[in-house]
Amino acid sequence: MERNVTEALAEVQWMNGIVSGTTELTQPVREKLASHTVENFRDHINKGFLEYRKSATISGDFALTEWEGQGSILRDALGREFIDMLGGFGLYSLGVRHPKVVAAAKAQIDRSPQYSQEMLDPLRAQLGRVLAKLTPGDLQYGFFANSGTEAVEGALKLAKLHTGKSGFISMLNSFHGKSLGSLSMMGKSVFRKPLMPLLANVQYAPFGDADAVEMELMKAAHVGNGIAAVIAEPVQGEAGAVVPPDDFWPRLREMCTRYGVLLIADEVQTGFGRLGEMFGVDCWNVAPDIMCFGKALGGGVIPCSGFVSTPEIWKCLEPNPFMHTTTTGGNPVACAAALAAIEVMLTEDTPRQSREKGAYMMGELNRLKDKYPHLLTGIRGRGMLIGMEFVDGKVGYQTVAGLFRRGVLTSGTLNNSQVIRIEPALNIPMELLDQTIDRLDQALAELA
Ligand SMILES: Cc1ncc(COP(=O)(O)O)c(C=O)c1O
Repeated sequence: MERNVTEALAEVQWMNGIVSGTTELTQPVREKLASHTVENFRDHINKGFLEYRKSATISGDFALTEWEGQGSILRDALGREFIDMLGGFGLYSLGVRHPKVVAAAKAQIDRSPQYSQEMLDPLRAQLGRVLAKLTPGDLQYGFFANSGTEAVEGALKLAKLHTGKSGFISMLNSFHGKSLGSLSMMGKSVFRKPLMPLLANVQYAPFGDADAVEMELMKAAHVGNGIAAVIAEPVQGEAGAVVPPDDFWPRLREMCTRYGVLLIADEVQTGFGRLGEMFGVDCWNVAPDIMCFGKALGGGVIPCSGFVSTPEIWKCLEPNPFMHTTTTGGNPVACAAALAAIEVMLTEDTPRQSREKGAYMMGELNRLKDKYPHLLTGIRGRGMLIGMEFVDGKVGYQTVAGLFRRGVLTSGTLNNSQVIRIEPALNIPMELLDQTIDRLDQALAELA
């Protein structure tokens, strides 16, 4: 595309006018916004996304252009409303634009949005202190970043630095992010294979199979293959809300200690109430050596991620604190949002809400499974990380499309096309859950 500075400026001003509110959002402006977005995705982002969305929406309704939201309601550029049963894949645990998180972030933007990199920043330090008081076991020191994949990258580096070993054991079908290090932990070929070789020496075990993990640890120890850490999600999110047997995490803890290997819990999706406890590993009273966060930590307002570990393990970062750094990670606005989000989690008791509403949804979804056994074959999950398993991927997508036409937003899981997720905000009003169940019933009846 040819350089054209004048047109670039006009394009910038057009969108800035809409964002700042100086351009009135009339119907023609809304329509242009929707059609422009489709064109821009096609010509400047990735036309593959349009095809992908077509399969989910079937009606070919590409013009679903997200524009605003509040709580568990999203509105597109044309003003259509959707109940958000996706929660941004775990990002919106407090819903869209929680007022307390927005207020904290705005106040911090008005004070000091980023930091100089030289002076000590109080919000990051306070967030580290708060997480030390909330996380299980001896986790006490934290490093903050912007995305889940960065949290996992840092955790892997920390494990290598502390143990002096380079190997990892990860789980089949796991998802830990898509930067090269975290991708190396991914338990599915489709995203890994084209990019190989990735990190050398990563072994895999079926998720939930503690014997298989132990076998990998035993084999590695036998042949002198140094393993730095075992990494797993408390409940696998992208694999389709897969809950491990109750003894899995306690056994991981015990065997990692016995083999002198670190245990990393990737709580990027499960942390901060999603599974009905503050952290996923709290479901089994396990304290990992390193815990990764992301998504909900920033309250769905500002990206904030991180990893925490024990004083003993953190020592390897002390001689040279620049061993792992980032310019924008843990910036004051992100930390203000995270601190506000934690206050909301604690005062509104969102883990309890997740537990109770999750149990309610599981009951209702199982009722629909019994009603449509030839379509809906399984319901699983914990708290508000729920997967609906369909007979095949096609029926799953048709159900998503049926829900979409009825104003409910859901989606598949990345590593399992047959499983559709129910992952709403933990504070979603009960009536929206009931409306979702009614509309799901209608969508399934139509398919049946
Ligand atoms: C368990 C887990 N870890 C890591 C990630 C990567 O997070 P991000 O997309 O913010 O890089 C995800 C994202 O879905 C996740 O579910």
